[in-house]
This record gives sequence, C-alpha cells and structure tokens, in this order.
Amino acid sequence: MAEVRIVSSPAEGGALVADHIAARVTANPDFTLGVATGSTPLPVYAALRERAAAGTDFSRMSAFALDEYVGIPVDHPESYHSVIDREVTQPLGLVPTRVHVPDGSIDGIQTAGERYERSMVDHGGVDLQLLGIGTTGHLGFNEPGSSFASLTRVKTLTEQTRLDNTRFFSSLDEVPIHCVTQGLGTILRARHLVLLAFGAGKADALAAAVEGPLTASMPGSAIQLHAHVTVVVDEAAASKLKHDAYYRWAQSNSPDWQQL
Ligand code: PGA
Repeated sequence: MAEVRIVSSPAEGGALVADHIAARVTANPDFTLGVATGSTPLPVYAALRERAAAGTDFSRMSAFALDEYVGIPVDHPESYHSVIDREVTQPLGLVPTRVHVPDGSIDGIQTAGERYERSMVDHGGVDLQLLGIGTTGHLGFNEPGSSFASLTRVKTLTEQTRLDNTRFFSSLDEVPIHCVTQGLGTILRARHLVLLAFGAGKADALAAAVEGPLTASMPGSAIQLHAHVTVVVDEAAASKLKHDAYYRWAQSNSPDWQQL
C-alpha cells in the first residue's frame, strides 16, 4: 500500500520530496524525474531550486512530463513545454534536450502518443514520477474511464478539468479541449510514484484514490496497483482518509533508515 505522509503545509511537503530527489540525484546524477504541472508540484520545484542554489548539481538529470495541451503554440506561456521550461529546466540547469514533453501540435497528433512512448522506453523509463490529482480523480489527464492499461494518447478533457484550469488562462474558451497524456499504464511503469495533494478541494479524490475501490472511474485508484507509492498530503487533503490514525502511527514510528 501507499506510504502516506501527512505534512503541515505544502512547503513542508515540497521540502520533503525535494530532499529525497536531491539525494537520489547526488547518488545517481543521471536520475530521471517525471514532472507534473498544475499548482500542486510547485512547492517541490521551489524547494528543488533551493537545493540547486545550495549546490546540488541537477545538470545531468533527465525529465519526462506527464502531458501537454493539444493545439496551443509551444511558446504559449501556459503550454506545458513553457511551464516545465520555466519551473524546472531553466532554474535547475537541466539540458533542454534531456527534458521531454509530449508533442501537442496538430501536425504530429496522429503519432504523438506512440513517439512519446518510444522515447520513454528508449530512455529506460522514469525513476520517480511526481503526480497531482485532479478534482475528477485524474492522474496526468487520464479522466474517469481511462483504462489502467492505457498508454500515451490523445484525451478529451472533462468540463470540470477545463473549469479547474481556467485560472491559468483568461477565459474558459481559451482552455484547450484536448491533450496528449501519458496513460495510466505508462505512469505505472515509473519506478516510484509520489502523489501530492494539498487543500480540502482534493480530499474526496485523494481518499478515493488511496482507499477506495480500484476502478477506472477513479483513475487515481491506479496507484494501488503500484508497489512503491508515497502520498504526501496536508491536513486538509488528508481529512477524508479513514485510516489516517494508522498513517500517523507509521509516520511517527518511521525508522531513520526508511526512505521516502
Ligand atoms: P492542480 O492540478 O495541481 O493544479 O490542482 C492537479 C491535476 O490536475 O492533476
């Protein structure tokens, strides 16, 4: 089952995860990080920037993004190419050719999923995949109904997800309807999953993902199929977990040798 870590703030969660990533990168400079977008991973990226400023060398790290919108220019400030470049590639000093984001351009859309899958497999996969969870329960942009075996492909966003993401655009009309997203089967190939959730708005989806039945109707529940999952949540996002007393007990008895 997932190791659930309840933290007092997003900043504390970001520091916890960044410390682990920095240690892994120091031990293995060719580490491969799976990066996510949205608001949730931002505290991790902020803490990683601090580790970079303090001397951790991320320059050999590779990164694979979870998803990209279809049909917005790659240099649009809210394309995930731009977001990852701004939040991760530039500030951490990654080599841009080692940072991979699905191709959401209309021209290559028929083969975008297949090309991305091949690049991930050829690279040797992802060591640690950062994940947020949508209010719909999506991981990446795998909306409810997505197969647990799905691979990178084009998906249609739900109206709820478009509404949730309107804050990044000037109006709902500007939010793309389609995306290219790693599938749940792709995500499950990563060697370690770190799912973060902050705020009361995520409590229902988080509890369903961690403790609910395995069902494609709740894509987040796919994490229960993975052997190494860490869930990092604040009190508000943890508020609907039924076994929270056990998670706190495990956390307070976590031995020094236990890694994230
Ligand atoms: P958020 O989105 O981090 O912006 O809340 C998470 C997600 O949609 O996966």
